Order: sequence, then C-alpha cells, then structure tokens
Amino acid sequence: MTLANKLKKVHGRKHGRPLNAARQRAMGNQFERYALTPTELTCDGTLDPRTFFPDATKLSFEVGFGNGDFLFEMIQRHPSEAFFAAEPYVNGMSALMKHIDDTSCEDGQYPLKVWMDDAMDVAKSLIDSSLDCIYVLNPDPWPKVRHHKRRMISQKNLDEFARILKDNGQLIMTTDVDDLAEWMATQATNHPAFECEANSKVDWQKKPEGWVTTRYEQKGKEAGRKQTYLIFRKKA
Ligand SMILES: C[S@@+](CC[C@H](N)C(=O)[O-])C[C@H]1O[C@@H](n2cnc3c(N)ncnc32)[C@H](O)[C@@H]1O
Repeated sequence: MTLANKLKKVHGRKHGRPLNAARQRAMGNQFERYALTPTELTCDGTLDPRTFFPDATKLSFEVGFGNGDFLFEMIQRHPSEAFFAAEPYVNGMSALMKHIDDTSCEDGQYPLKVWMDDAMDVAKSLIDSSLDCIYVLNPDPWPKVRHHKRRMISQKNLDEFARILKDNGQLIMTTDVDDLAEWMATQATNHPAFECEANSKVDWQKKPEGWVTTRYEQKGKEAGRKQTYLIFRKKA
C-alpha cells in the first residue's frame, strides 16, 4: 500500500495549524524514541506488547488520544503501567511530545509506544489476549447518518478489540454526544464478546473512580453537555 493510499484510511484531520517552535523541538527530541515503526506494525496479530514492556503491571491502549491530556496524566499517575496510544493528528501528537519534553522521567523513558496513524493498525498488530484495557474517549461523532460507518466503535473494530483484550479486560468509552453514546452502548451490548459493567443506565453518568478529567471534558461540562462513561468487559 502506498503512503498516499494509507493516509486516506483515516477520516478527519491529520494536520492543523503549523507547529510552533516548542512543538517542533519536542517532536524532534522525543517522537522517534516513542514511535512504533511500520515494520513493527505488521497488522497480523503477532506483536507481543511484552516485548517492549516485560515488567509492566498493566497494559493499556488509548485510541485517538487528541492532545494526550488523559494519557499523559495516566502515565504520571501509574508509573508501573505501560501504554500504547494512537493519534493520526500531528498537532495532537506534538502536544503529547511537548508534555513529555517538558518533564523528566525518572527511568529516562516513559513506558509508552505511540503510532501517528490509524489506531486499528496497532490493534490488528497485537497478539490475542494481550491488553488489560482499551480507552476510546470522545471519538469523532460523525453525526451524519451516511458517515456512521466511519465511527470508531463498530462490530468490526469491536471484533479486533475483543481479540486483543484479556478475559475480563475493560473497554472504556466516553462521549458527550447523546446519539453517539447510544450508538456505542448498542454496538458493545450487541457484540457477543462484551458485557456491560453498569447495573443501569444511571451508572453511565457516573465518573469512574480515579478518573482523569481532561480539558475537553471540562469544557463540555461547562457548556452544559453531559459526559457518558460506558464501561464494558470482555467476557471470560
Ligand atoms: C474528538 S477527538 C477526542 C480526543 C481525545 N480522546 C479527548 O477525549 O480529548 C477524537 C480524536 O480521534 C482521533 N482519531 C480519529 N480517527 C482515528 C483513528 N482511526 N485512529 C486513531 N485516532 C483517530 C482524531 O484525530 C481526534 O484527535
């Protein structure tokens, strides 16, 4: 597949405003140290995440991390855990790299691997039952019906998420778009590999314990939008 064809796979923005000097510097200083390479991502379910992080107490994957606010806070709060994360938007990736560049990690490098392209490349590459948790936080809503097929949560992508999650591993999805919340809940409920952790829909409005509230989530709250937290578990 040519690069031009590959780029077409991800809908939405890959570039925004030009990067300022600090973001460019952070990309130059940090990106290569953390980036997965195209040779590592073979999309054939053979990549063992333990190759990178043999001692991690938990392995998580964040799909579409935006500016990386949630991810970076999680990395700092849980230093024994390791994270995979994908974000095709270079402005988002550079924001995460700037967070990293601005801090010093005790062990020299954070337990993190990033991919600046389609998250499904990472999902398809990982071996079966290798992750404890997948986060899909505020995915693009694609409100037009003819674009619903672009939504990140689909039966096809859930097949892949189910394959790479360990038994009882969690799929955590959030949104402040009611229609998308309904869609993601229905998709996950209808998928045979997942069961919902909540006892009732009321629980979907409760922030999980120890939750990292991002600027995006906070702004939505201030604008009167309600955040929905959908937590599903891979059936054992
Ligand atoms: C609405 S933003 C939310 C960002 C972040 N999760 C948050 O809660 O602030 C959705 C993000 O998903 C990313 N995205 C869209 N398609 C993607 C894909 N196929 N793989 C990985 N990320 C994707 C977009 O670039 C965008 O940054």
